[in-house]
Order: sequence, then C-alpha cells, then structure tokens
Amino acid sequence: MKGLILSGGKGTRLRPLTFTRAKQLIPIANKPNLFYVVEDLLRSGIREIGVIISPETGAEIRQALGPQSGFDASFTFITQDEPRGLAHAVKTARGFLGQDAFVMYLGDNLLSGGIARLVEDFRSGQSDANVLLTAVDDPRQFGVAVLDEQGRVTRLVEKPKEPPSNLALVGVYLFKSVIHDVIETLKPSWRNEYEITDAIQGLIDRGLNVRSTRVHGWWKDTGKPEDLLDANRLILSQVRRQVPSEYEKADIAGEVVVEEGVNISNSLIRGPAHIARGAVLQDAYVGPYTSIGPEAQVIHSEVEYSIVFGEAKLLHLPCRLDASVIGQGVVVDGCGDGRRKHTLQLVLGDHSQVKI
Ligand code: TTP
Repeated sequence: MKGLILSGGKGTRLRPLTFTRAKQLIPIANKPNLFYVVEDLLRSGIREIGVIISPETGAEIRQALGPQSGFDASFTFITQDEPRGLAHAVKTARGFLGQDAFVMYLGDNLLSGGIARLVEDFRSGQSDANVLLTAVDDPRQFGVAVLDEQGRVTRLVEKPKEPPSNLALVGVYLFKSVIHDVIETLKPSWRNEYEITDAIQGLIDRGLNVRSTRVHGWWKDTGKPEDLLDANRLILSQVRRQVPSEYEKADIAGEVVVEEGVNISNSLIRGPAHIARGAVLQDAYVGPYTSIGPEAQVIHSEVEYSIVFGEAKLLHLPCRLDASVIGQGVVVDGCGDGRRKHTLQLVLGDHSQVKI
C-alpha cells in the first residue's frame, strides 16, 4: 500500500501564519503537524509516500522532508497547480499511485490513536474504500455519513444544512484503485472543487463496498488558530517528563520536556509544556499547555496555553499572555522600563490579530 499526504492548499484560515509558512509545517508541541502524519504512516508499514504540494509552499515541504528529517521513507513530491479539491489531488497523483491501494491523509490532521489497525484490516479485507468517522456536535460543517446496520456507508453529504447523522468524515481515507475510475467522471461541486465525498458516493452508487471505522481517541483538524491551540494541548497531554539533570534545581512541575541548551533562570514552568533547544526563560512563568520554540525568549513575562514559535521574544509583558499563537521571530515587548504606557506601538502584518 502507498500513502498520499495532502500538503497543498492555501491555508487562508490560518493567515497571517500561512503567509510565510505552509500550514502543515506549523509546530504542534514543537514538531510540524506533517511529521506526525508521516510517523503515523510509517508505523502502519507504509514507506512509499506521495506528497501533494502547492506551487507556493512546495519548496518548504520538500526541504522539511529532506534527508536531514531522518524518515525511513521514500517521498515523491507531486505539484497540484491549484487546490481544486481532495479528489483533484488524488487525480493529480494518479501516476504515482498506479494500481495500488492507498491511504490518503490530510497533512493538517492529527489522530491520537493512529491508523495502523485500520490499514491492517483494509489490507486483509474486501472493501473498496474505508473512511474514518467521528461523532461531532455540529455536523453541518463536515462531510457526513449515513451507515447501515453493518457499518457500511450508504450515503455521504457534504456540509448538510440538515445533517442525516452526527458522524463526520475525518481526514483519513483508504482506497482501492477503483476510486480513480469514479474520479474521472466527477464534475466540480457548487464551490468549484472536485469533492472526495462525491467520489466516495460514486463508489456507493456503483454498488461497491464502502466501510467505515470510528476514530479511537481524539481527532483534530488544525485549520484554524483555535484548533492549533487545542491540538497543542492534546499532544502536550501525552508528553512525559524529560528534564536534563542540569535543570533539576529549576522550578519545573509536572510533565515538561526541556531540550538541550535551554537557559532557565528564576523561572517557573508548570506542565504539560515543551521547551525547545536554545530557548531562554528568565524571570518567566510558562504555564500548562504551552510550547516554546527553538531560540525563543520569555523574559520577565508570563505565558500560558499558547504556542510560541522559534526565535520569538516575549519581553517584560505587563500581563499574562493566554491562548495566543506567536509566529516565528515575532517580538512582543511590554517595554518594562518602569513607566506604564498608555499608548501601544504596533508593527503588524496583514490579518494580524491583537486582543487587548
Ligand atoms: P483545507 O483545510 O480544506 O484547505 P486549505 O488548506 O486550502 O485551507 P483554507 O480552507 O484555510 O484555505 O485542506 C485540507 C488539507 O488538504 C490541507 O493539508 C491542504 C490539503 N489540500 C490539498 O493538498 N489540495 C487541495 O486541493 C485541497 C482543497 C486541500
């Protein structure tokens, strides 16, 4: 079986972060989302992996998965000129996929339970497709499945106004090569995309066997800023304490990972948290569910439930930073010169968000 990771798209909902980086490379607990996906495929015994990339961010993705990444996988990069839908991405990868069965995995999705068992069952089973499902509170923003008593999918509806069930499609799909025949016949949807739900409905309409599997554990799609923070929380809740002996005297409580070369002085860290190499924490408080990126600095400041990218600086903040995503190299300076200022000085790019 092969893997197909979708790592193209525009990532508009994550601007401004996605002006300068592919959304699949946004760090979750200091590791790109895409790496969790690759690891999940490798754990399932899938080493031949196609990666859909966009013209805008393709070079970055290639670079991230280069030899220095250390993955024991063979990557084939496939450029999709325009993000014309998930089924269009499969069509673009037709040459790479050949007649093989494959797992399609969205590069901005995370699954705590992984897909190893699902892949094993699909390999040995008779189904033509298997989709992962999870119960959600508001199915109207998802692809929604209707099942028969045996768990076979009988109908799929994309973003229904009146959902026929609460079972949403998760970003992992397993297909036999017959899916390509259906995709050849697809027409674009009302939003001008080639929908994977239409392709799967096409399999059902041909009387083919489309099965479903419920997600074990949690599933997260990191499409929006609040999803990034939630994904960070979920991944951090799985970390185990890993603090080098030189930091034993520091005030570090709970499940905290401190990488090499971190400089900690007069600071308190309450886990779960992840502090990347070269970070500087001085007179700082780093609260639960926070990741601090490589070479970032937190000086005389407090931060909680946040993602701080590499080389960012939080300096002398007058109040605690909460539920924030601070991009690469961003400086937030409270100007701790003892005087309380009643003015704000801001240099913010397009679509930046500041809540005061
Ligand atoms: P989406 O989150 O649906 O799309 P997007 O990345 O363009 O984001 P936004 O809606 O914020 O503009 O895509 C899910 C994943 O699939 C993501 O990793 C991008 C990828 N993708 C492709 O590779 N090709 C495509 O044609 C589409 C639609 C998505």
